[in-house]
Amino acid sequence: TALNVNDYLKSHMRTVPDWPAPGVQFRDITPLLQDPRVFRVLIDAFVHRYMDPALRPDVVAGLDARGFILGSVIAYELGLGFVPIRKKGKLPFTTVEETYELEYGSATVELHTDAVKPGQRVLLIDDLIATGGTMMAGKKLLEKLGATVMEGAAIVDLPELGGSDKLRQGGLQLFTLVAFE
Ligand code: PRP
Ligand code: ADE
Repeated sequence: TALNVNDYLKSHMRTVPDWPAPGVQFRDITPLLQDPRVFRVLIDAFVHRYMDPALRPDVVAGLDARGFILGSVIAYELGLGFVPIRKKGKLPFTTVEETYELEYGSATVELHTDAVKPGQRVLLIDDLIATGGTMMAGKKLLEKLGATVMEGAAIVDLPELGGSDKLRQGGLQLFTLVAFE
């Protein structure tokens, strides 16, 4: 029997208990990337959405590191440029930075000051939304440079951690493909 795209993708996820810390159920996307048929379904789900003229961004930003894998391919397929939002200390030019809390630690991310122009509509990509801290930090960085995040997109939402609710309450439109309660 045919699965819809969301169930098909969910059926290819791997869950690793107690990694990287006790109590964390790690939702691993690598099996989706490894199988060429699943990888294509995954990327096409995003590309199809953002090809719509009403939802087409000016540029795609990806969050370090798993957001790079998705974001660059999506940008390429849409005929758009890609900008990386990196963990602190990796970008060589002048940057803006933002510190935030994770499900298991804290981190600082940076963005080159010339990565986006004021008024540009940015699609912000990551693999997964947990507490929402990473995506919120990315949104703040892009807004510091005068850009607008037209939507945040991820493969996985963990709604019980409250991140997606918090992001939506903060005014960010979100698109996700798979939820784990
Ligand atoms: C993971 C994941 C998201 C973030 C989600 O990245 O890839 O970026 O955590 O959590 P949040 O919603 O609570 O912020 P991680 O920082 O582990 O880095 P990695 O992509 O380099 O593995
Ligand atoms: N990033 C933050 N929490 C995560 C989880 N439970 N699984 C995979 N990536 C994550």
